[in-house]
Amino acid sequence: MNILKLLEDRVISALKAAGAPEDTAPMVRASARANFGDYQCNAVMAAAKKMGMKPRDLAQQVIDQLDLEGIAEKTEIAGPGFINIHLAPEWLASSLQPAVNDERVGVAKTAQPQTVIVDLSAPNVAKEMHVGHLRSTVIGDASARTLDFLGHKVIRQNHLGDWGTQFGMLIAHLEELEQDSQEAQAMELSDMETFYKASKKRFDEDEDFAVRARGYVVQLQGGDEYCLKMWRKLVDITLAHNQDVYQRLNVLLTPSDVMGESAYNDSLPTIIQELDNKGLLKEDQGAKVVFLDEFKNKDGDPMGVIVEKSGGGFLYSTTDLAALRHRTNALNADRILYYVDARQGQHFDQIFTIARKAGFITEETSTEHHAFGMMLGKDGKPFKTRAGTTIKLVDLLDEAEERAARLIASKETDLSEEQKVQVIKAVAMGSVKYSDLSKNRTSDYVFDWDNMLAFEGNTAPYLMYAYTRVKSIFRKAGVAESDLTGKINITEATERDLALKLARFSETIEQAAREGMPHIICGYLYELSGAFMSFYEQCPVNKDGVEADVKNSRLQLCALTAQTLKTGLDLLGIETVEQM
Ligand code: ARG
Repeated sequence: MNILKLLEDRVISALKAAGAPEDTAPMVRASARANFGDYQCNAVMAAAKKMGMKPRDLAQQVIDQLDLEGIAEKTEIAGPGFINIHLAPEWLASSLQPAVNDERVGVAKTAQPQTVIVDLSAPNVAKEMHVGHLRSTVIGDASARTLDFLGHKVIRQNHLGDWGTQFGMLIAHLEELEQDSQEAQAMELSDMETFYKASKKRFDEDEDFAVRARGYVVQLQGGDEYCLKMWRKLVDITLAHNQDVYQRLNVLLTPSDVMGESAYNDSLPTIIQELDNKGLLKEDQGAKVVFLDEFKNKDGDPMGVIVEKSGGGFLYSTTDLAALRHRTNALNADRILYYVDARQGQHFDQIFTIARKAGFITEETSTEHHAFGMMLGKDGKPFKTRAGTTIKLVDLLDEAEERAARLIASKETDLSEEQKVQVIKAVAMGSVKYSDLSKNRTSDYVFDWDNMLAFEGNTAPYLMYAYTRVKSIFRKAGVAESDLTGKINITEATERDLALKLARFSETIEQAAREGMPHIICGYLYELSGAFMSFYEQCPVNKDGVEADVKNSRLQLCALTAQTLKTGLDLLGIETVEQM
């Protein structure tokens, strides 16, 4: 159940009944401190001003009209006119009860399902995925999973960079390579980065090669069969590499989510035509340009966005316009979310503006650039190898596994070798992902192995360990979660705190889905674990002398904690283990 939503609805009715203007927002928030109640309504001050009333008088009228019978044990006015709401523990207990052992842990599906396009990952062909693509992949995947869980129709789109003039030299080099032995070929193609660099070197150093390469670009664009076949090979090799990475990272992307830049080739002339029909196009030094009054260049003139180069040839922007049109017309998007580096912010502002003017998207289509900052090294500079080159994603994941193996080896466990392998993998991938997911995506973040693999603090190992601790309570009690009976009964302060945290799961993931901000879920799970630890210190479960119904009630809170942690981590794409 979404408590925040319930309270908002009740407050809206009360505001209305108290005569507040129709458009008054309920402004209900979780209170920052326990003495302000569990939730707070901050709507009264602004409404009272509009009505020419004293805020505290209006607050009293709202409270008089506020129907929280059986839900709140106390509502009170605080300060200039805040309304503090204290929930009744009996109500909290009874609203949590149905969530225990429910596969959705009490989270309802949305009443207004939308079609949401999630543009994520989008690496480039013949280039190895690097750490920059990690953020897009991991944050985008968590957001997609969360939206999906809430009942939205999620369409993942991997806008692969699979087109452009570089394919001339890549094809020319592949051709040369195909004269080598199978082994030599396999060797060079196993590392696309090396292959790319070798092609570039040939292009820069050998004029004949460069001429051939340029010819292939033209032929490829003209749909030449041989060139297309060679191009396809390069795309397939890249896709296979990427798919390995997705699998390792437990990211739900498949080859069928790939809708690369090349897929829009045929529609690009139509895009230009339609822009022209709308009168949006101008010729500028032979190029076709859309000028936007909304954006000024450094001289204060409307900024131009080139959509066709002089002498022909389309651009990244043209393709993105075609993608927007496709996502609106063919995929019926209500929302289109882009998980792309913050440095592309202006590009997206511009294409959203053009697409709206051209009618490629509707008035209602919500286009959102869910930007993220850079991954930095400990020195505060962009994350690089010692030699100053970009770090390959596979190398990073290998290192994570090595470090996790050392970490697990240093702990005393009674895990079997098989279990250990599983724990190492889960901890390694979980740590890398969580360190990224747990930071507000809009800022840069420092990649730090020691922090992310620590068992204390807001880390994956801490949460995964908290989960195993709860599970061990059941092993000790000799009770299966699914066999729990009896009622939750909240008497102790730490029980109440834990119950309130558990009850906030719905509103938390709804907010995270709305804003495309997985760190909200991370922060929540961290606080939930903290609330659980305090509860477990104060409220024994398996100790002798704990009465049967008390034990039963506490076991239900334990069960719900475990299920919420597992579900929450799953929404982040992080695996849990039962023991570690
Ligand atoms: N391939 C691009 C890059 O590596 C990202 C593409 C993002 N998606 C988009 N629709 N433009 O920078």
